[in-house]
Amino acid sequence: VSDTRAGGEFLTAPPALAPRPLDEIDTPALLVDLPALDRNIGRMAAFFQGRAARLRPHAKTHKTPRIAERQMAAGAAGITCAKLDEAEVMLRAGIPSVLVANQIVGPLKTARLARLSRLGELIVAVDSLANAREIDEAAGREGVAVNVIIEVDVGMGRSGSRSVEQTLELAGLVERLPCLRFRGLMGYEGHAVFVADKDERARLAREANALLVSHADRLRDAGLAVEIVSAGGSGTYDTAGLHPGVTEVQAGSYATMDATYRRILPEFECAVTVLATVISRPAADTVVLDCGMKSITRDFTLPEVRDGDGGAEVVRLSEEHTVLRLASGRAPAVGMRVELIPGHGCTTFNLHDVIHAVRDGVVVEVWPVAARGGSR
Ligand SMILES: Cc1ncc(COP(=O)(O)O)c(C=O)c1O
Repeated sequence: VSDTRAGGEFLTAPPALAPRPLDEIDTPALLVDLPALDRNIGRMAAFFQGRAARLRPHAKTHKTPRIAERQMAAGAAGITCAKLDEAEVMLRAGIPSVLVANQIVGPLKTARLARLSRLGELIVAVDSLANAREIDEAAGREGVAVNVIIEVDVGMGRSGSRSVEQTLELAGLVERLPCLRFRGLMGYEGHAVFVADKDERARLAREANALLVSHADRLRDAGLAVEIVSAGGSGTYDTAGLHPGVTEVQAGSYATMDATYRRILPEFECAVTVLATVISRPAADTVVLDCGMKSITRDFTLPEVRDGDGGAEVVRLSEEHTVLRLASGRAPAVGMRVELIPGHGCTTFNLHDVIHAVRDGVVVEVWPVAARGGSR
């Protein structure tokens, strides 16, 4: 395992490679509890065991090949990515099949997509005729075939075909273009995944999955082979994973979780925290930490203090500070350590070069967040 992120050198001491106690790790530091991570991966894998649909975990959350490898070892069909930067990192790490659940547009990106298609099975989501044509041309120049699925908007109101007619026209074109290989459809029910009421969440997800499957049925009626029908996120894995006709589920956050998903997915554990040091206790009810929004996101919701720590609550984040308000007098003193659970895992992993993998208070491995910052 390299102890530097790809292309970069650490200005301070490199992270530990030998096991060492947490208190020897400088802060702020991104931690992943290894037993909790493995239990989450195992729990999700067990759900998919023996089912028609398979799990293709979204790696935009952790951006870390070492975690993707654990997900593959637990039976995943491949990995989902949002960007080519992530896909390249995963393919080069040996992940055999990567779905880019996003549009890859423009001459620079489509040329790169075609080149990366040499590294393993790479599948990309398309939702316009123009994009299908430019990928076909880039693939032709590179002398490869590019795997394509068509994205359908199943109610989120983001990218994707908005009608069966649009899907049919696009699939027909993809099928005819010489350097594209039509593989199927995807439709992410992002409007459903965070709905707090479980029944309502499942209802919205079923509706979205049914719409996606209806597009797949119409394509089959038109003579197309629809191999992949990909849906779902962590909030809807147990609906999408059971929906007849859905073949793959793109859940990502479940592996490490966050404070937002923790409220609706009690079956998974929060494995990710940011370790911080108390740098100030300016008043009896106030503590200030050495991490701010440059090391933990304020996306979705403010971070939560792990284990409650005597009723401490995050009230403010600035760039390099977190302010905690204390409900009781049991406050951590200056120099003590506190673990925060991020409100959103995906936008927190992206702020760190490495993950400290922790078992029973000991950092046992350090993993580069190899695709961190990879937004291209
Ligand atoms: C296209 C797509 N698929 C799947 C997911 C699922 O991710 P999560 O497991 O975090 O809900 C997302 C999340 O944003 C997404 O954008």
